[in-house]
Amino acid sequence: MNKSQLPVEITPKDEHDFDRISELKAFDETKAGVKGLVDAGITKVPRIFFSPPDKFPKDSNPTINPGFSIPVLDLDGIENDPLRRRNIVDRIRDASGTWGFFQVINHGIGVSVLDEMLAGTRRFYEQDNEVKKEWYTRDGMETVVYNSNFDLYGAASANWRDTTYCSMAPKIPNPEELPEACRDIMIEYSKHAKKLGRLLFELLSEALDLDPNHLNNIGCSEGLAILYHYYPACPEPELTLGASKHADYDFLTVLLQDNIGGLQVLCHDQWIDITPMPGALVINIGDLLQLISNDKFKSSQHRVVANLAGPRVSVACFFTTGLMPSSKLYGPIKELLSEEHPQKYRDTTVREYSLHYNAKGLGGTSALLDFML
Ligand code: OGA
Ligand code: NI
Repeated sequence: MNKSQLPVEITPKDEHDFDRISELKAFDETKAGVKGLVDAGITKVPRIFFSPPDKFPKDSNPTINPGFSIPVLDLDGIENDPLRRRNIVDRIRDASGTWGFFQVINHGIGVSVLDEMLAGTRRFYEQDNEVKKEWYTRDGMETVVYNSNFDLYGAASANWRDTTYCSMAPKIPNPEELPEACRDIMIEYSKHAKKLGRLLFELLSEALDLDPNHLNNIGCSEGLAILYHYYPACPEPELTLGASKHADYDFLTVLLQDNIGGLQVLCHDQWIDITPMPGALVINIGDLLQLISNDKFKSSQHRVVANLAGPRVSVACFFTTGLMPSSKLYGPIKELLSEEHPQKYRDTTVREYSLHYNAKGLGGTSALLDFML
């Protein structure tokens, strides 16, 4: 076949995809993330960030339905007051089976620690770009993985945020392996988060009528990754999202957000705001806990809208060993199965699930569906 016989016409789709890939590459190669665009003074959102409109309405008038917001649970005194504990376990069972989300107050992590974790996050992103760039990578096996959009080349649209991922347990990194801007607080915060996580897994075990240590014993709290996010102010917030609709791929997430807002959970086909509450932490069930609870607990879809105000920062603690080599199999817990409740998912490892989720990226269908029997 000579050259003249080759199809010369480029379809509009190809042309679009070609441009898109080079634009993604150019953006990636700056290693400066979305913050770099904003610092350069852009006033228009580049098209790689355009996200298609969503079919679900936003619950824009909560006064019509004031009860429609995620529960806030007070953990004060539950360690030594069995009655309060039982009450909280009941409420966790309700919230985890419906919303998949709740907030906790009096959770044992002091406000100064929370504030310093948010401040450390800001310090990391707002430091000299030449220093920050050194951490920029797409190699998920590095100790610290800073980049913008882990699924940049696979997702339908890029998100208006930068993220740093760092595994803090079971292996605690050496301080020198962590960015100086936030290393001390990362180590301190992850100790607190780990302790809170163990308590939450006890309460969740009780909510499933299992031995209080069940979820901790099977390793749910073994792995802990910190993901700290930076959502720069956005000049055209209606065109993009801070984070596309997704569910988390871990067992459980403990999320610290600042006071800007933008996090929403999808409930009964409506986006509900998770309004920031000073001192509170947002807790949500991850896909792996939905899987092992055989759907008793729900890993809900959520997103972060972009905002004219900002930057917004948040810090998610993911209870998972992520991509670490793992051979332990997780499937629906036998005690939860019966003729009435047959097993809904096949067994998997944490690594297999995480790899599958990463390959899919955010914004599509739930990765959990692919593990259904
Ligand atoms: C996440 C997430 C929400 C936020 O890290 O998975 O949903 O508010 N974060 O940053
Ligand atoms: Ni999430």
